[in-house]
Amino acid sequence: MSYNNDDKRRQLLGRLSRRLAYTAPALMLAVGGGAALHAGAEGPLSQAGKAAMADLSEESWLLASAHAEGGAEAEAEAEGEAEAEGEAEAEGEAEAEGEAEAEAEGDVSDVQRPEGYSPAYSEDGENDPALLARGEELYYDTSLSTNGLSCASCHGSDGNDMGYSATFEQPFPHEVAMARDQFGMDKVHADEMTQICMVAPMAAEPLEWGGEQLTSLAAYMVEVQRRFAGEPHNL
Ligand code: HEC
Repeated sequence: MSYNNDDKRRQLLGRLSRRLAYTAPALMLAVGGGAALHAGAEGPLSQAGKAAMADLSEESWLLASAHAEGGAEAEAEAEGEAEAEGEAEAEGEAEAEGEAEAEAEGDVSDVQRPEGYSPAYSEDGENDPALLARGEELYYDTSLSTNGLSCASCHGSDGNDMGYSATFEQPFPHEVAMARDQFGMDKVHADEMTQICMVAPMAAEPLEWGGEQLTSLAAYMVEVQRRFAGEPHNL
């Protein structure tokens, strides 16, 4: 175990920060701080902020796919070792830009609802308040990722809902650029989009289909979507 998580997190965030520094200081703060440091990030994202998010999505993806590859062989239980190896791979690969670009194709089977799957939350109706409360808790949970980020690190807290594009104004399922460009999916459900952010920007394994984590996070995202669109919601 030559790597400790703090080093790893610092390195990943350092790289993200360098990439973002010139366009979005506020966003960088939010990401770099891990916790909610949103001074100056109020209101809708500026053009620069949007550009930075687009950039971020690309960069996160490079890091995540590099991680996944390095981790794959080492996926065997030795967490510490797998992390170290994944990181070593990530170094080389993030440097070899063109090559990494070419490999920026997500494995759709990780993030698409399995055949015959029927989710335990509703996208067009109400969800149990307990489910939403659990989803909110997970939204702030950095332990879901391998890079120290929580969903809220990128998407904001206390209802300031940042990092979302205009597509998020439509009810699920709908088109999302990251899902289309990296996974070839025309439309995504809330649970599928959660899985995409798990494996790409959060650099983690997908959550268990039908498990309480995915179900509650997806239910929470349905309400965040309604809030984002200015519709009645239960948050
Ligand atoms: C490193 C930053 C980052 C983290 C962390 C992150 N996301 Fe995202 N998220 C993005 C980006 C970038 C997009 C893509 C926006 C686009 O393509 O329109 C996105 C898009 C989304 C969307 C789709 C919005 C829409 O238009 O429908 C949802 C839902 C979402 N994220 C949920 C989550 C959840 C849940 C988590 C935590 C498990 C999470 N995100 C973690 C960066 C992040």
